Amino acid sequence: MQQHRIMIKEYSFFKTAFEDFEELLSQQFQNYFTKKSRFFLSETSRKIADLFNDRIKFPKAEIRFSQQECVILLLALVPHIQPNFFESIIQEHLPSGGDFPEFGGVKATNHRSMLPTGETAQFILAGTDIEERLKVHDYFSNEHFFYKQNILWLEPVKEGEPVMSGRIIMAQEWVDRILLNKETAPRFGLDFPAKKIITEMKPEDAVLNEQTAQQVNDIAVWLTHHNQLFKDENLKRKVKPGYRVLFHGPSGTGKTLTAALLGKQFEKDVYRIDLSQVVSKYIGETEKNLESVFRRAESKNWILFFDEADALFGKRTNVQSSHDKYANQEVSYLLQRIEDYPGLLILASNFKSNLDDAFIRRFHSIIHFPMPNTEERLVLWQKSMPSSLLPDASVDLQLLAKKYEMSGASILNAVQAATLQAYEKGRDSLHQDDLIDGVRKEYLKEEKSI
Ligand SMILES: Nc1ncnc2c1ncn2[C@@H]1O[C@H](COP(=O)(O)OP(=O)(O)OP(=O)(O)O)[C@@H](O)[C@H]1O
Ligand SMILES: [Mg+2]
Repeated sequence: MQQHRIMIKEYSFFKTAFEDFEELLSQQFQNYFTKKSRFFLSETSRKIADLFNDRIKFPKAEIRFSQQECVILLLALVPHIQPNFFESIIQEHLPSGGDFPEFGGVKATNHRSMLPTGETAQFILAGTDIEERLKVHDYFSNEHFFYKQNILWLEPVKEGEPVMSGRIIMAQEWVDRILLNKETAPRFGLDFPAKKIITEMKPEDAVLNEQTAQQVNDIAVWLTHHNQLFKDENLKRKVKPGYRVLFHGPSGTGKTLTAALLGKQFEKDVYRIDLSQVVSKYIGETEKNLESVFRRAESKNWILFFDEADALFGKRTNVQSSHDKYANQEVSYLLQRIEDYPGLLILASNFKSNLDDAFIRRFHSIIHFPMPNTEERLVLWQKSMPSSLLPDASVDLQLLAKKYEMSGASILNAVQAATLQAYEKGRDSLHQDDLIDGVRKEYLKEEKSI
């Protein structure tokens, strides 16, 4: 029932918006054919603007979209709902058919109809009025909040072709926001190679040695007070915004966990980018794909977590393959982007020695996550115990901690395996044998024997 009512509300919004848009387009076509010397944007655009501003609550509420901006938003949105919208209107005004290049637009690959370009926006918002047409460029410039807030932009065109012949692309997040009237998290994919990381764990669940914990706390101090630095008359001119940290250490020692916990503590989304995937899958495209992550991250104040940093920032002795050539361009792009990022940016690697020294110098802090020592392992074992099973008399965590050098992740895996064994055997308690079996399985993964 609830669902149904929402649908009706959505429907009436779009019905009104489309009717208004159709009216607006007809008026602009008439203007065009009657060759008015001076261009006027029809009053209908005001109706569209009111409709949109009423619906979209912009994150920074003081901003309202102008009439022109609303027309561009609607233009970008139409193909997502009604594929033949433009064709039918063109046909109405050019009954004999034929091409109408003044209207702009390109043929899509999957989508069977026309997709609007910057030129389409120019036709609607400026007709043939050169002065007005020039103004339309501004809506697609890097300075406009459409671009800065990652709302919409023009698809880059081949060298030498007019930029306005690029398709208008609206970020999927915004398509969803307007279509469904709700905010959605960006989807992981080719054009957005980042995944949100979340944790159910609490800060006190993390077992870190004193030095590591102290350095992690420095990050928390920065997150708490960095805004104050930029109120200081002297420092604000000199200090760069942003905080860059390197996490290094063996697998399963809490690097990702610590990043997720910081996000939770400071109510910031943490997005993880796996650089080894980015480099191998998107050869030569890294820059383009990461750009959308950076832009969105900047506007949302995310914590960025670059995993497997050695994939891109590793030591390279000579440049041979085309892969390396691309990688080098990508490294310089990413270095610049990393230095300019105004928020917290964490890079993680298993081996600091693999990383380029010049690269390491750019960090505010380098934090080592070593394998836990015996006491830390004991705490990890204790904190990993299931709450639904009690340990029976055979269980000796002290012994396990002392005897087996394992990471926090391995300890948790061993306990999980032992707990499943207890369930399987219908026991209501945990046995040392099952725990040792769990350890054995972990050792096998690393081709070690116990
Ligand atoms: N220091 C720790 N304290 C508490 N739990 C830990 C710790 N280290 C690892 N764990 C447990 O192991 C899981 C995996 O650890 P995490 O993903 O943080 O390791 P990582 O250092 O990022 O490893 P990798 O280098 O393989 O990415 C955590 O979610 C947590 O449950
Ligand atoms: Mg990790």
